[in-house]
Amino acid sequence: MRLLAKQHDLFIGTAADPGYLQNDSAASQLLAREFNMLVPEVAMKWEIIHPEPERYDFSRGDALVTFARQHGMAVRGHVLVWDLQMPAWVTNGQFTRQEWMQILCTHIKSVVSHYRGQIYAWDVVNEAVNQDGTLRNTFWMNKLGPEHIAMAFQWAREADPNAKLFYNDNGGEGLNPKSQGIYALVQGLQQTGVPIDGVGMQMHTSLGGAPPAIELSANMQRLAELGLEIHITEMDVRLQYSTSDNETKLAQQADIYQQVLSVCLSVHNCKAFLTWGLTDRYSWIPGFTGKPDAPLLYDKDGVPKPAYFAIVKLLANQ
Ligand code: XIL
Repeated sequence: MRLLAKQHDLFIGTAADPGYLQNDSAASQLLAREFNMLVPEVAMKWEIIHPEPERYDFSRGDALVTFARQHGMAVRGHVLVWDLQMPAWVTNGQFTRQEWMQILCTHIKSVVSHYRGQIYAWDVVNEAVNQDGTLRNTFWMNKLGPEHIAMAFQWAREADPNAKLFYNDNGGEGLNPKSQGIYALVQGLQQTGVPIDGVGMQMHTSLGGAPPAIELSANMQRLAELGLEIHITEMDVRLQYSTSDNETKLAQQADIYQQVLSVCLSVHNCKAFLTWGLTDRYSWIPGFTGKPDAPLLYDKDGVPKPAYFAIVKLLANQ
C-alpha cells in the first residue's frame, strides 16, 4: 500500500501511539511497512504534552517522531486548539483574557517549535464549527472569542514557517450547513491574511452514514479552488449499526473506504488519506460507543480486511 501510494504522490497514514509500538512489534512492523505517514492519536494533545503550567512532556510525541524518521514516514501534528483532552490546570483555570492569550500563545509556540521541521502539517484548530455552520461555543471561544482562531494560526506559523497549517473537523465532509460553515470560515481566514494551508476531513463514519461521493467531491473541489490542501485525517467506518451478516458488512465497509479514497485521488489537492488507528484492536470506537466494532483496514490480529484490498486495488489500477 505504501509503495502504491507513493506513485500517486499520496500520503497514506494512520493514528499511532507509542504504547503499542513499544509492546507490539508486529504492529510497528505493519505500520512502517504499509504507511508513509503517522499522526499521534493522543501523544501531542494538551493534557499529555503540557500537563502543568511549567511542565511539558514531549516523550510520547518524540517517540513517534523518531519512529517516523527511522522509517522515512511523514508526521501530521495533532492537535493545538481543541476543547477535549485538556489538563485541569487549563479547564479549571481562572485567568484574565490577557493571560488566556498568553497561555494559548505559549502552548502553541512551545509545542510547534519543539517539532519544528519535523511535522508535515499541524491540526491547528479542531472541531470549532457546529452542525448548523455557526462557530461552536468552545472553551477557547468562551475565553477569547472568535479571534482565537486567527491568532492560533499566526502563532503556529511563527513557530514553524514550513509546517502546513490545517483546520480539522468531522461531519463537514459532504454538502451540508456544517461544510458550508467550514468553507466560509477558512475562506474568511484566507481573505484576512491568516496563514491557513489546508482542511482536514476527519471522516469518522459508518455503513449508511458516509457522505455521497458526489458531495464529497464537490466539497473537496471548492476547497481546492481556494488553493487549500485537503487531507482525510481520521477515517474509520463503524459496522455496529448494521444488521447484515459479517461478510456483507465488511464488503460495504470496503466500498466506503474505496469510494472516499477514489474521490481523494480525483481531486489534485487531496494529498493525504489517514485512518484513525492501525488495526481493529487499537480503534477508539469500541471505547467511545461502548460497543464492539471493527472500523479499520486490519482486523484485531493485523490481518488485512476487504477494505485494505479495495484500497490496494484502487491504488494499483488508477
Ligand atoms: C480520540 C482518541 O482516539 C481517543 O483515544 C481519545 O480518548 C479521545 O480522542 N476527533 C479527534 C481525535 O480529533 O483527536 C479523537 O481521538 C477522535 C475524534
